Amino acid sequence: MTLAELENAKAESLKEIAAANDAAAVEALRVKYVGRNGSIPALIKAMKDVPKEERPAFGKAVQAWRAEVEAALAAKGAGSVGEKSVDADLTLPGRWWGLGVKHPLSRVIEETAAIFGRLGFTVADGPELETKFNNFTALNTPAHHPSMDRSDTFWFGEDCLLRTQTSPVQIRTMMANKPPIRVICPGRTYRRDTTDATHSANFHQIEGLYVDTKPVSLADLKSVLAYFAKEMMGDGVTVRFRPHFFPFTEPSVEVDFTCHVCKGKGCNVCKQSGWIEVAGAGMVDPRVFGHVGYDAEKVSGYAFGFGVERIAMIKYGIPDIRWLYENDVRFLSQLA
Ligand code: PHE
Repeated sequence: MTLAELENAKAESLKEIAAANDAAAVEALRVKYVGRNGSIPALIKAMKDVPKEERPAFGKAVQAWRAEVEAALAAKGAGSVGEKSVDADLTLPGRWWGLGVKHPLSRVIEETAAIFGRLGFTVADGPELETKFNNFTALNTPAHHPSMDRSDTFWFGEDCLLRTQTSPVQIRTMMANKPPIRVICPGRTYRRDTTDATHSANFHQIEGLYVDTKPVSLADLKSVLAYFAKEMMGDGVTVRFRPHFFPFTEPSVEVDFTCHVCKGKGCNVCKQSGWIEVAGAGMVDPRVFGHVGYDAEKVSGYAFGFGVERIAMIKYGIPDIRWLYENDVRFLSQLA
């Protein structure tokens, strides 16, 4: 190609680009002239055949052609990333899909871990599929306790079940560690309950366990739960204990929080009582220590367990447990 021919070809190419009136035509011309096998790269490759004395002038002309073609293509909106074209108007504002938010149950679990973390508790974990020993026997549950019934618990054969509580993590943690132990164990639990506004066949609990070789008292338990109540539900919320029975604690208590809405005065939320039941707790029964190989004469401790859904429902004023599982964005996004 002579210089004159090159100038003609250049004029022709610029005319073609100017006439291109849609993205496909612009792209085709980009490929034709500056694509990997386009005519301009081909000319550059063929430079070696140009007589030596003409080469500088010819080279310059080719580069100028390339620059003009690229500018003309760019003005037409051709893509400049490799061989691909970006067939989009990059000047349009982006679409905002919103940020995700944490699920109320995740929030309660994370906040609880943070609150107890400040008291030296770490998070322990255990499987949802448990043995009868860990879920019942080691927790001192008598052989014919109603909670073991097939109508209350999801069994898989004689010895395997979906844990009905997070208390088996107490057993696992004690078997694997020596005191002092300070853990909380959040996790999913299962019971054969019929779903309604306050029941779900699967739900979450958070277990707490403190065991030490120095004496641990019910007063220690109460002060830790009072701190948790205030941190989780706000100032003015504290705890009271009511006597109760659990096979694995002695003495056992049920734990109420002051109603966070009326601060104990009595309102619809607490059915005028000023209190809301949130947890079960007590001093670890010596028989449980026996099952995990601890000397009950030398160690003492407390345990507690509460429902995550229950805390979430009272904290955020959620009237129906099912809302926590429907994943309706209108509900979930309110916590943003
Ligand atoms: N596991 C008991 C329940 O599900 C709660 C509990 C935990 C009670 C720890 C005492 C100690 O009802």
